[in-house]
Amino acid sequence: MIDARLRQRFARFTTDVVVRRPMLWRLFRRPFAWMFDSLASDWDATRVTPEHLSALDAALEHLDTDPARILDVGTGTGAAARSLAMRWPAAQVVGVDLSPAMIAEARSRAGSERERYELGDASALPFGDGEFDLVTLLNMIPFFDELARVTAAGGAVVVANSRGASTPIWVPLEKVRAELERRGFTRFAEVVGGPGRSLLAVKDDLS
Ligand SMILES: C[S@@+](CC[C@H](N)C(=O)[O-])C[C@H]1O[C@@H](n2cnc3c(N)ncnc32)[C@H](O)[C@@H]1O
Repeated sequence: MIDARLRQRFARFTTDVVVRRPMLWRLFRRPFAWMFDSLASDWDATRVTPEHLSALDAALEHLDTDPARILDVGTGTGAAARSLAMRWPAAQVVGVDLSPAMIAEARSRAGSERERYELGDASALPFGDGEFDLVTLLNMIPFFDELARVTAAGGAVVVANSRGASTPIWVPLEKVRAELERRGFTRFAEVVGGPGRSLLAVKDDLS
């Protein structure tokens, strides 16, 4: 059994490297999937605290339209995706994750037929351009080109963490904002929710 601190260091190291050099993700993909496969069965019991979704929820309060098509990237056991489906009862919600064990857990917990969980890699998402009105990431490494590609014009991205800078997969929100700004996002709200932080970014209507 790998020590929890070692896992967290590996997650932070991978995040730092991949955000700077996305091409290096191919070196980390397999060990990352193994690591999260091994964590899937007790993820909700050990990680999904009452404050797990606070920063994501706080950012969603700043959305001024109701999204119809939602994507949760790095969905894990689907905690955020389930909550999004409850918040918007007419929305279709897709959760995508690299780890087969996480996807199996998410499917077993699905709360409605409007939720769908699929295996997929955030660096090459299996979706069309502009397919989603809202794309969320909670405690997940952002691949900015893909986020911008699958978000519809006028749609939004929320990048959230549950525990601020002590979250193992953590990217400074100034960095997230700068990367999205370069890809056609024009309106931003930086939000605090419980111990977490999030950034809501809205893509320009014309991009
Ligand atoms: C820290 S967990 C967060 C899970 C969930 N969002 C939550 O906060 O409970 C990160 C998740 O992202 C997944 N993941 C990591 N890199 C990924 C990638 N490139 N594509 C898809 N999923 C990925 C992992 O398998 C894991 O389930």
